[in-house]
Amino acid sequence: MWRLADAIQQMIERHGADTICRVLEPMLTPARIARIDTVLAARLQSVITIVEDTYDPRNAAATIRTTEAIGLHELHVIEPHQRFSASGGVTLGAHKWITMARWPRAEESVFALRARGFRVFATLPGAAHTIDDVDVTTPVAVAFGNERDGLTESAIAACDGAVGVPMYGFTESFNLSVTVALAMSRIAARRRAAIGTTGDLDDELRRKLRARWFALKIRGAIGILERTL
Ligand SMILES: C[S@@+](CC[C@H](N)C(=O)[O-])C[C@H]1O[C@@H](n2cnc3c(N)ncnc32)[C@H](O)[C@@H]1O
Repeated sequence: MWRLADAIQQMIERHGADTICRVLEPMLTPARIARIDTVLAARLQSVITIVEDTYDPRNAAATIRTTEAIGLHELHVIEPHQRFSASGGVTLGAHKWITMARWPRAEESVFALRARGFRVFATLPGAAHTIDDVDVTTPVAVAFGNERDGLTESAIAACDGAVGVPMYGFTESFNLSVTVALAMSRIAARRRAAIGTTGDLDDELRRKLRARWFALKIRGAIGILERTL
């Protein structure tokens, strides 16, 4: 899968996104193209999920699936100890449609995102502030910790603040992937309301993604492009 994604990426870099779309468009039904354009129009690049040291492949997969289903473009994965490995049956192919960035340490992801204009919040059960206190008028990323130990101290220290998802029962924390769903759907909805639009891809990224998704929808797209271009 990653080899295919890399090959598509190289084609886009070499020939340009619009050329790739022009060659592949006749091989897609109008309904498929309309569906791709609808999903692109709702893609948010200004809200990002970060997960640190996830060890359960089902949680990893559910995180990918939720991030994609909410319409987020990026998932950052911190892998200090174990590789983020998702269980294929649970992602249902969702990994194809998002961009994953892998980092060895949370601080590196946080600093890179801050340099891009994001503010980054740690999630901590019982934090004094809640997910609804997050200011969504700027791009925002939210970090989630591992199933057993939560976020590392260094990850929390690197973030701009810590927020919790309110709980009212005896249980002290939600399951990781459940928290990702609860928090990111709430943040994404608030961000969409704040910017007054469902999606916010910049034009260049939208065109590149369109070309990538066209290619992913067509069996043998790389061969077709190699023969045509
Ligand atoms: C199962 S919890 C880890 C619990 C860990 N013992 C702790 O105290 O952080 C896994 C992750 O889900 C998120 N999480 C779970 N419940 C949460 C809540 N109520 N508020 C904020 N984050 C929560 C956090 O990111 C946490 O690191």
